[in-house]
Amino acid sequence: MRFGLSTAYALALVTGASAAPSTVTARQNSPFNTAAITDFAEPWALAFLPDNRILVTEKRGQLRLVDPNTKAKGTITGVPSVRYGGQGGFGDVALHPRFSENNLIYISYAEAGTGGSGAAVARARLVLNTSGGGALQNVEVIWRQSQKVNGDGHFAHRILFDSNSTLWISSGERQQFDPAQSMTSNLGKIIRLNDDGTVAAGNPFTGTVGSQVWALGVRNPLGIDFDEQGRLWEVEMGPMGGDELNLIEKGGNYGWPIVSQGNHYDGRPIPNHNTRPEFIAPKAFWNPVISPSSVIIYKGDLFRNWRGNAIISALGAQGLVRVEITGNTAREAQRISLGRRIRCVRQGSDGALWVLEDGAGGRLLKLTPR
Ligand SMILES: *[C@@H]1O[C@H](CO)[C@@H](O)[C@H](O)[C@H]1NC(C)=O
Ligand SMILES: *[C@@H]1O[C@H](CO)[C@@H](O)[C@H](O)[C@H]1NC(C)=O
Repeated sequence: MRFGLSTAYALALVTGASAAPSTVTARQNSPFNTAAITDFAEPWALAFLPDNRILVTEKRGQLRLVDPNTKAKGTITGVPSVRYGGQGGFGDVALHPRFSENNLIYISYAEAGTGGSGAAVARARLVLNTSGGGALQNVEVIWRQSQKVNGDGHFAHRILFDSNSTLWISSGERQQFDPAQSMTSNLGKIIRLNDDGTVAAGNPFTGTVGSQVWALGVRNPLGIDFDEQGRLWEVEMGPMGGDELNLIEKGGNYGWPIVSQGNHYDGRPIPNHNTRPEFIAPKAFWNPVISPSSVIIYKGDLFRNWRGNAIISALGAQGLVRVEITGNTAREAQRISLGRRIRCVRQGSDGALWVLEDGAGGRLLKLTPR
């Protein structure tokens, strides 16, 4: 009896030993100190003002302004009516590179219209008041997806400026497949425009819609960022087993929906990239998928060894995926669980990482080195 109890106790210890240390190890291995600032209703994107306050979009169409020091949360009125549902709603927000002079911000969102819905990008003057809120004025739509279609998937609609104030938009293929290869559609493309929405000089293609296009054949490109050499990196949600990190080249065709490292979700195969070398293959891909929701190329000093790495926020993988980039090659170096689907990652001016959790009650977290 005594022996039996001891055995049971020993077994319990063994069982406990296999679970407890791994939990402790996971915590000890976290590279972050985490500060939760405040929460939101389905946050999607964030952008820093010059005074380090933060604009946060909420998918149903609210634009919020947060002071991370006081945690006060105000509202910016004047956002256009958004088409909310599925993957659609209020999307990205970005400041014009000369925001301090012109107060212009750019927003992307899904809008309803003839044929269904489509992504739009607008610019507006941000006018702040003294009580932590404000309004958008002179809202002007400067770009739209070229056709509205039924369904609520694959808008993507990330917006990014380069150092020349050129505007880049990632346009998803709206689950329509073939338009990603058509130069009469801007679905499934990387778009390059002037800051007023006109076509930028030097784009590789011609035609009413084609002249907007920098690269084609992308699926659901939810993240874009430049590295310190000025190269553009993109992450996209692929089909089953085919999430991608791509290095975007002028005029490049990335092959969707003709080739992919993954297969359709109904199991139908898609030929791999190596069958069609004329399409540019990803620098890294994921099977099983991670569901990348945004990307930055880290340019700070706070996480000293991460400079030049791609930091990918992930929905399915519920955290951050760090990818080391060496020349033209990329490989996953670390996967950091944050225990929730992560919608967006951005770098603050001090080098800290700021992330938004996905969904109802999603929090804004500031991550600094432990
Ligand atoms: C500031 O803007 C917000 C949102 O438009 C508004 O609710 C608030 O009343 C404004 N405060 C002042 C002092 O105008
Ligand atoms: C900005 O313009 C300069 C001069 O045309 C060019 O060399 C540089 O590559 C551009 N930067 C980006 C990020 O496109």
